Amino acid sequence: MNNTHLAPPLIDIVKVSKVYPPNIMALNDISLTIGRGEMVFLTGASGAGKTTLLKLLCFLEYPTKGLIEQDQKDISQLSSIDLQLMRQQIGVAYQDFKLLSKHTVYQNIALAMEVRYENPTKIKKRVMELLNDLGLSDKIHIATNKLSRGEQQRVCLARACANRPALILADEPTGNLDTESTDKVMTLLNKLHKSGTTLLIATHDSTIYRDTDHRIINIENGKLQEILKVKLDF
Ligand SMILES: Nc1ncnc2c1ncn2[C@@H]1O[C@H](COP(=O)(O)OP(=O)(O)OP(=O)(O)O)[C@@H](O)[C@H]1O
Ligand SMILES: [Mg+2]
Repeated sequence: MNNTHLAPPLIDIVKVSKVYPPNIMALNDISLTIGRGEMVFLTGASGAGKTTLLKLLCFLEYPTKGLIEQDQKDISQLSSIDLQLMRQQIGVAYQDFKLLSKHTVYQNIALAMEVRYENPTKIKKRVMELLNDLGLSDKIHIATNKLSRGEQQRVCLARACANRPALILADEPTGNLDTESTDKVMTLLNKLHKSGTTLLIATHDSTIYRDTDHRIINIENGKLQEILKVKLDF
């Protein structure tokens, strides 16, 4: 995006490192700014640090060094209540899904809205809409432990999107999907982007960013390697 400097960024990561005990340097002095409403792809080999970066942005992990500002607030200075409020504006599609395995597809997605005391009619409408977008309408009353991994992955994404959060962190959202389902996922993510959502998408799947006009950021061994500003010529 060319106009990201005009508005304050949604995310500002400044010289952040993350060391897991005993001494695993998962992120090494990373700086990255993401504008409000931007869609950014995060690529890199297995173990490069993609999930760690997403975890820092949804407060599942904390940086060992450096500064993270979200919505212009230094997250290390926020009270637990303010962090919780900020977390409510973030939808996360986890790499390992984190679904309630014995609950149905409907229950998993609806719960994310029920905890906000949303109106039941609105919840039902939103869940049906997401399931339709993601090709899962016929699975609505199936327990998620009876689904394929690709189906579970889409339920996880639907749950992340349910409350129309300001920021979506999607960790390998197409990792287990065929071309048709991948297209559905990307159509949904593009629709959210057009409606103003900020998206950070960690992926190995070059098919989803090869034609993109959005930024592609590569991590290698915990280091932010490059930002490719031109379309890839596959
Ligand atoms: N909780 C943890 N404790 C210790 N080391 C960890 C932990 N989580 C991740 N790591 C290590 O940190 C590094 C970065 O891992 P991370 O999960 O961020 O990579 P990734 O880019 O998401 O990989 P993948 O593409 O396989 O999902 C790896 O060396 C990993 O083994
Ligand atoms: Mg990962």
